[in-house]
Amino acid sequence: MGRYSVPLAPRLADFASVAEGQRALDVGCGPGALTAELVRRLGPAAVSAVDPSEPFVAAARERHPGVSVRRAAAEELPFADRAFDVALAQLVVHFMAEPVVGLREMARVTREHGVVAACVWDHGGSGGPLSLFWEAARELDPDVEGESRRAGAREGHLAELLRAAGLRDVEEGALSVRVEHRTFEEWWEPFTLGVGTPGGYMAGLDATRLARLRELCREMLPAAPFALNARAWAARGLA
Ligand SMILES: C[S@@+](CC[C@H](N)C(=O)[O-])C[C@H]1O[C@@H](n2cnc3c(N)ncnc32)[C@H](O)[C@@H]1O
Repeated sequence: MGRYSVPLAPRLADFASVAEGQRALDVGCGPGALTAELVRRLGPAAVSAVDPSEPFVAAARERHPGVSVRRAAAEELPFADRAFDVALAQLVVHFMAEPVVGLREMARVTREHGVVAACVWDHGGSGGPLSLFWEAARELDPDVEGESRRAGAREGHLAELLRAAGLRDVEEGALSVRVEHRTFEEWWEPFTLGVGTPGGYMAGLDATRLARLRELCREMLPAAPFALNARAWAARGLA
């Protein structure tokens, strides 16, 4: 979903007021969509990043020379108290085994009055980049859950989690991106790579149901070329 997370990164950085002179931590950096935006604003030496997945750590190191990238989960950050001015998690809280513990760790490593911010796609509503896929899947399997119940994926929940983690003056918002697709195949192709929750769902479908799912998606989308809006819920608070 890099084509959606890349334009989301400057929105989250703006929401967290990331500005020159700060030291920033990117939690759950993946290959580095948000890392790239932080490097643009702060320079590589001021950016640190962590991810629990070794392949993502390797990819982020290769793409962002000069950034300190370490293998770690949010729930156990390998940094001293108050080491950063701002700590961010883009599209990560819903993957954390213990979201409140992870956010509390982000607060611990952020200086007093520094910002902790996070965002998660609107998987709970109809505004996420995968919402149409799951709507089509529900036509096939009405009980399919998708990612709608994940932490932070419904309006207001991220703010609840930040407050539970002890952050102060918590505010919430919605971040929107618009992404262009030249053809239906270009939109569909990432779903065929077998990754993430959609990949897991598709692996359980036989060829006939898979073809039906593809057709349902095609029917639900506008004629190509088309542009889609995607919304992420966001929350920020002070450490
Ligand atoms: C959807 S990707 C988002 C990557 C990147 N932040 C972006 O916006 O493109 C989710 C990332 O969260 C990482 N992740 C999963 N569980 C985590 C945890 N407990 N703490 C930190 N990161 C985690 C995954 O390895 C993956 O890189």
